[in-house]
Amino acid sequence: MALKHLEVSGLRNLTSVVFDSSPALNLLVGANGSGKTTVLEAIHLLGMARSFRTPHARKLIQQGKTAATIFGRIEAAGVEHAVGVQKTTADITQLRVDGQRLESASRLAEILPLQLITPESHSLLTGEPRERRAYLDWGLFHVEHGFLELWKRYRRFLEQRNAALRNGAGAAELEQWERGLSESGETVAKLRSSYIQQITPVFGSIYARLLADEPPRLAARRGWPKELSLLEALEKNRNSEGALGYTLSGPHRADFRLVLPSLLDAAETLSRGQQKLAVCALRIAQMQHLQEVTGRRCTLLLDDLPAELDVDKRRVLMEVVAASGAQCFVTATDGDLVDTSPWEEASVFHVEHGVVVEVV
Ligand SMILES: Nc1ncnc2c1ncn2[C@@H]1O[C@H](COP(=O)(O)OP(=O)(O)OP(=O)(O)O)[C@@H](O)[C@H]1O
Ligand SMILES: [Mg+2]
Repeated sequence: MALKHLEVSGLRNLTSVVFDSSPALNLLVGANGSGKTTVLEAIHLLGMARSFRTPHARKLIQQGKTAATIFGRIEAAGVEHAVGVQKTTADITQLRVDGQRLESASRLAEILPLQLITPESHSLLTGEPRERRAYLDWGLFHVEHGFLELWKRYRRFLEQRNAALRNGAGAAELEQWERGLSESGETVAKLRSSYIQQITPVFGSIYARLLADEPPRLAARRGWPKELSLLEALEKNRNSEGALGYTLSGPHRADFRLVLPSLLDAAETLSRGQQKLAVCALRIAQMQHLQEVTGRRCTLLLDDLPAELDVDKRRVLMEVVAASGAQCFVTATDGDLVDTSPWEEASVFHVEHGVVVEVV
């Protein structure tokens, strides 16, 4: 998969941007406020139908305009797809692939598997468990056929049990939802655990390379006590959860931590730059694993590469990304801060006041 061509209009300060991109490295250079991150935001909208900066369409649509439109040509498995995403101030999102309207964004994600690393990305380690679950589920969505359906089924049972708890339902009614909930929940947990095992060696070698240190262990929590089956945990907590009105056990409460060889928690021990590199290792490991298992390439959006990384780490990171086989879009305020030498092919773009021009 690779984004070959991008057109953006009405997105923040990008009035009308059109360019062809390299299937390897694309370096976007420009002053603060020039529109670099907005180009990455456009690509993110194309692959995920949402921004990584705001959930509010109104904020990302150019002031005075009624819609932001992104169009891309994407090569996936030897076939070129025309993909369009439009957000309007009336908060309507329209998705199109090859002229057909789409109802959900999952097809976009299949065509353009994306990973994003920004200056805020350390929050994968230090932030809410929700982010780490989303990380695992990104991987499972792409490598495990039927995972999305399984997850939706689990969520439906969960909502039904929560509604029953709130209505003060008795054991017989709760049991009806708990069977389906525990069955789908146990499967989700097994798939996540197997996924963690699969990416651990890939993550370990990338981490060792990036941080020049022994890698941490990914310690997973599946979301309910080890000694109980999910069904047993649900039954046991009926009374306490009845008072709360929601379910406390299950894979919707799962999490993982990075445990360093010293047994300390990486989120509480690593420096900010090291945390960023650990997150890079996690994200690049997913892309590399996806490519190994399915042959599909990812596109990595790397915003403000120099932030918090010294010159050596920036170089090693570029080597690792190049070796991962991903297409990459990198932004920087100064092109000299990014070493393009690990890449056989690179396109450099200058971004100024919302205009993107390829430097040849
Ligand atoms: N809704 C909007 N309408 C018009 N302009 C906007 C809107 N939202 C943001 N902008 C402007 O768009 C520009 C794009 O900002 P962007 O974050 O892409 O810059 P950048 O090149 O990544 O800068 P930095 O190097 O500081 O990260 C900013 O100048 C911002 O003021
Ligand atoms: Mg920026």
